[in-house]
Amino acid sequence: MTFFTQRDQQLCVEGVPLERIADACATPCYIYSRAALESAYRAYDDALAQRDHLVCYAVKANSNLAVLNVFARLGSGFDIVSGGELARVLKAGGDPQKIVFSGVGKTAAEMQAALAAGILCFNVESESELARLNKVAADAGKIAPVSLRVNPDVDAQTHPYIATGLKESKFGVPFEDALRLYGAAAGMPNLRVCGIDCHIGSQLTEIPPFVAALQKLLGLVDQLASAGIKISHIDIGGGLGIRYRDETPPPVADYINALGACLGNRAQKILCEPGRSLVGNTGILLTRVEYLKHGEHRNFAVVDAAMNDLMRPALYDAWHDIQPVHARRGTSRRYEIVGPVCESGDFLGRDRELNLAEGDLLAIMSAGAYGMSMSSNYNTRPRAAEVMVAGNEFHIVRSRETFDQLIATEKNMP
Ligand code: LLP
Repeated sequence: MTFFTQRDQQLCVEGVPLERIADACATPCYIYSRAALESAYRAYDDALAQRDHLVCYAVKANSNLAVLNVFARLGSGFDIVSGGELARVLKAGGDPQKIVFSGVGKTAAEMQAALAAGILCFNVESESELARLNKVAADAGKIAPVSLRVNPDVDAQTHPYIATGLKESKFGVPFEDALRLYGAAAGMPNLRVCGIDCHIGSQLTEIPPFVAALQKLLGLVDQLASAGIKISHIDIGGGLGIRYRDETPPPVADYINALGACLGNRAQKILCEPGRSLVGNTGILLTRVEYLKHGEHRNFAVVDAAMNDLMRPALYDAWHDIQPVHARRGTSRRYEIVGPVCESGDFLGRDRELNLAEGDLLAIMSAGAYGMSMSSNYNTRPRAAEVMVAGNEFHIVRSRETFDQLIATEKNMP
């Protein structure tokens, strides 16, 4: 089912024409479809229905409170990587007992906050972190539930910036050390070993690397059982890719079924941490053409969104489809779609065949994941508004930042 469709010669999100949103909130503006979020979540929840499971949405992909709230209402768990994400999940009504805490650099203060909230599990990424967590838990008079993020040394075949499962990456504990570290964790009085997890990378469009990683993990689970260390949940990580252009990622059900075949009839609870595949194709970035510059070599459409709003093209050379909100008849030209930021890397799309006029609205597609959550104030640009569409209604779920908010914590010299 598609939630972004042309209706009455205009692009709509569910039942709402994009022009209506632009009139109400101006541009640039992120727009999400609630029905699309729900549908993406159900694809995972349904595929895992035969097993004891928990889908832990990776908050970093899109941390807007309303997005988190939509998932919380569906019973989702959450994968967090900071104290800030913990606070967001709690504020959005997420159940602390469904939170897993990943990340290589958890501070003592973040550990304290997560222990106080009573989270499901800390996904520990180093030997030093085990020791710190044991101490923080002892000081708080608590027992911390832990899982080790094991680095299976599997090539995820994705963009090098978002591959995380190779030996040389900073993530997780080396596969060869895992057994010894589980032994150490089991011996620490304020830790309780409960799980195992891995994450090998993001935007994976093939199943085999996931299977290879899980098989290595399962071998370890068996070795741990022989050593008397019981693992009660297996967290298979996140990373399933989406279609931006012509990628053909497998359907969620195929991915889960392939992993299910490896798991056989193991009794452990299955956790997963998808981010992009839950939100990526549920949101767009709406922008307006400010100026057209037709040149000898290139044509530029200068729009009011920029690399600070959507960093992915500048950072990863990522391709996002760009659709006019109102399709025009007549001759098209090839355009560089660029923002107002003073960098040549400030492009949202290159060499796009479009028929444009100044003032036109454009939708940058597949912008729900790692769009707003990676945005910045570069060039003193207030961050965009965010809107959630639900049926024929829409709600502003984050107002556009004002200049005063942007400088609220700064001061002149005395
Ligand atoms: N779990 C952990 C521990 C992670 O590090 C990540 C993503 C996820 C889950 C979710 O992975 P996903 O299902 O979204 O692939 N900014 C980049 C993506 C960075 C991904 C980082 N880790 C981008 O825009 O492509």
